[in-house]
Parts: sequence; C-alpha cells; structure tokens
Amino acid sequence: MVTCWSTAMMMTAAMSASVPESRQERRAQERRRGERRERIELGPPLIVFSDIWKSFGAQVIYEGLDLVVHKGETLTIVGGSGTGKSVLLKCLLGLLRPDRGSIEAFGEEVSLRSEREMRSIRSRIGMLFQGAALFDSLDVADNIAYPLRQHGWRDESRVAARVSEVLEMVNLPGIERRWPAELSGGMKKRVGLARAIAIEPEVLLYDEPTTGLDPTNTRRIDQLIIDLQQRLGVTSIVVTHDMASAFRVSDRLAMLAEHRIVWCGFKDEVEEAPDPRVRAFIEGTIGE
Ligand SMILES: Nc1ncnc2c1ncn2[C@@H]1O[C@H](COP(=O)(O)OP(=O)(O)OP(=O)(O)O)[C@@H](O)[C@H]1O
Ligand SMILES: [Mg+2]
Repeated sequence: MVTCWSTAMMMTAAMSASVPESRQERRAQERRRGERRERIELGPPLIVFSDIWKSFGAQVIYEGLDLVVHKGETLTIVGGSGTGKSVLLKCLLGLLRPDRGSIEAFGEEVSLRSEREMRSIRSRIGMLFQGAALFDSLDVADNIAYPLRQHGWRDESRVAARVSEVLEMVNLPGIERRWPAELSGGMKKRVGLARAIAIEPEVLLYDEPTTGLDPTNTRRIDQLIIDLQQRLGVTSIVVTHDMASAFRVSDRLAMLAEHRIVWCGFKDEVEEAPDPRVRAFIEGTIGE
C-alpha cells in the first residue's frame, strides 16, 4: 500500500504542478478535456450511514461517522491508507458489522439484517473489490456468470451473451476461457469490474477501480463509471487514491480522516472547504 500511496502522491503532485492559477482557467481546461460536467441536482438519499462506530480490538476505525449518498450521484471517498474506506463499503454490503450506528440502503436498515436477508439487498449492489477477489478455481466466464446464476439466470446462452457483453465493456473481449492466474493485475481488476456490472445493479461500489491500470484503461474505466451513471442512472460510491480519476468521475467527494467524514461536498466546492488540510489532500498537495 505504501508503494500505491507514493505512486498516487507522485501522480497528484504531477497534477498539481499542471494546475492553472485561477478557478476559471482550471474549469475551462477541464471543459476542453471533456472532464467538466455540470453539477447534478441531488436525488433523494439512497444510502445513509448514521453515527457509525467501529473498532477492531484496540484499533478505532470510526467514531460517529455520518455520510449520505444520494440516488443517481457518483460520490468518491478519499482518505489516507488504513482510514477505513474499504471497511465502509464492506459494512454497507453486510460483510462487516459496525459496533454501533445505522446503515440504511433503499430505505431498509442493513446493519440489523441476517445473512439471508442481506441477499436481496446485495442483488441490488455490485462491488468491485480492491484486490478484484476473483475465484481462482473458475475461469473468467464463470467468474462473471457467478452472480448472474446466483440471481436466477438459467438460460446459459443468455448468460454467455451477457458475459461477452460486459467483457467488451471493460475492453477485454474474448478472454472467457482464460484463468485468473493467467491475467495481469490490471486485467483481473477489469474482470472484477465486469462481474460487478453484470447484474446491472442499482448501486455500484468501486474500491480502487483504476489502481494498477495504464492511462488508456484508466480513462476507459473512468468513462464506463460515468456512462453507467448517465445511461442507467446507477448510483456509485468510488474509493480511490487517484485524484485525477476522482475529479473526472465524481459529482461529490467525501474525505475520511480522524475516524469520520471530515468534509463532503461537490468537487467544485473543494476550494472552499474550511479545513486547509482537506483542500490540500484533495487537491493533491499533501499526503495525509
Ligand atoms: N477484518 C478485519 N479485521 C481486523 N482489522 C481489519 C479488518 N479489515 C480491516 N481492518 C483494519 O482496518 C483498517 C482500515 O482498513 P481499510 O481496508 O478499510 O483501509 P483503507 O482506508 O481501505 O486503506 P487502503 O487505502 O490502504 O486500501 C486497517 O488498519 C485494517 O488493517
Ligand atoms: Mg482499501
């Protein structure tokens, strides 16, 4: 992770070196690069974390974390390594439980649900795990087909067609019969993403979607995240260390530090964040 973080810092330092002086100039440059999207009007709350507390033994992760994700938005969570970004996504999926507090998704309380009851919520949420988390004993096609079959897809020709379709979407056509061990880290990540989007979930959780990808595939994945939002109205939570990517795909940014969300706002509000550490972190001029 240290390597990953320093890479991100080098990238963000490079970014900040090329950041133009004024806000207008920067926005004009973003518009020219096709990166500037107008602010969306926020929809109703879809996922609500309220007063979340969580520790692992003596290690405190959250102390009263609050965060609201609105329907149809792409919200990116940023923060230092080990601050609990991945744990937050796992709590939403019910893979980990907070010690205290409430997590609501689609108007239902997640943290009180049994494993069996979580299945219906999980069928509406796709997740790209940080390490892709492919099943080594299944080939690419069966990895991607896994959630489809779990959610009742019985027609194998339809399953195969959907597998090919999502592999094309992540720029890996024709690799159905390859095994995870034969793939590079970046390819695994893209297969993990293909698996996450296969069931056409209403909510997508992306944990470091572009880490380890080359610039072309980073752009492609960023564009895919934007397209899924714009074409299908998907609500997304992205976790990333890649600030350039965060600014491209997000409507809003939230910063996790000191065991809670210390700032959350539209990306063009970063410059007005009251805490200079938040501005410096998100604009990529300091590490933690
Ligand atoms: N299941 C677990 N049991 C014990 N500790 C855990 C568990 N999961 C995560 N942790 C610890 O909780 C802390 C937060 O982990 P998390 O993976 O959420 O960090 P992160 O913000 O995603 O970091 P990174 O940016 O490096 O991915 C870490 O110190 C981690 O070791
Ligand atoms: Mg993580």
